[in-house]
Amino acid sequence: MSTQIAPSAEDDDRKRRVTTARLSEMKARGEKIAMLTGYDFSFARILDAAGIDVVLVGDSASNVIHGHETTLPITLDQMIDHAAAVVRGVKRALVVVDMPFGSYQGNSRLALESAVRIMKESGAHCVKMEGGEFVVDSIKRILSAGIPVMGHLGLTPQSIYKFGTYVVRATEEDEAEQLVRDAMALQECGCFALVLEKIPAQLAERVANQLSIPVIGIGAGPGVDGQVLVTHDMLGINQEFSPRFLRLYAQLHDVMQGAFEKYIADVKAGDFPGEEESY
Ligand code: KIV
Repeated sequence: MSTQIAPSAEDDDRKRRVTTARLSEMKARGEKIAMLTGYDFSFARILDAAGIDVVLVGDSASNVIHGHETTLPITLDQMIDHAAAVVRGVKRALVVVDMPFGSYQGNSRLALESAVRIMKESGAHCVKMEGGEFVVDSIKRILSAGIPVMGHLGLTPQSIYKFGTYVVRATEEDEAEQLVRDAMALQECGCFALVLEKIPAQLAERVANQLSIPVIGIGAGPGVDGQVLVTHDMLGINQEFSPRFLRLYAQLHDVMQGAFEKYIADVKAGDFPGEEESY
């Protein structure tokens, strides 16, 4: 007699598609949200199979994929290409796409057009925008088209030439108070979640406690509702970037370089392909 074990509620929950509503349920029951960046089909498939809640198609693609020094040069077309590839690799995770520099700032009509292109051409589920009170008009216009928006405050890399450095933000009281006001404004205008980047842990925890929407941190301490890292950084592919907030979950740079060196040596020595690898 074969005994079939019925799937548990937990198994069902693991398979269920992650939506913006599910993220707020997770916050309400104190379940942490795990988010990582993804830029292509193969990585997206692995992230999804591992059970990631949110894949962020970050404009960090500008750095880690395209080799630019900042996030500013990446274009809307490039972001859409990355996002479409990620969407094809994902069955369960929520896919959020960064609106790139120049695609929304200071022009709510342009913001709506850019967000609509991302949603139509990539099949992604929502967009993310950097900035506080000054992007509220654009956010409202995008929301009016039914597109969910995630906010992003603290260190906002698209404004790097305004800040001048990538140091911790909001360490002074006036900047911290402005950040709290911005966070409230983003929640009030309808953002479904907020990323806080590189700010003091105490301030991040205060914001997460004050807001009813989920707050996801990067370099913002443990007192928030979830965490995000750049996948290439946490895998140790990119060796030049080692901020205090980064935990290395693998050392893929060395593993990959070792594999490439072995392949090159095998080819040069005539050891590859062998008989069993030939037709
Ligand atoms: O572009 C990105 O990867 C991001 C994360 C650092 C939050 O915005």
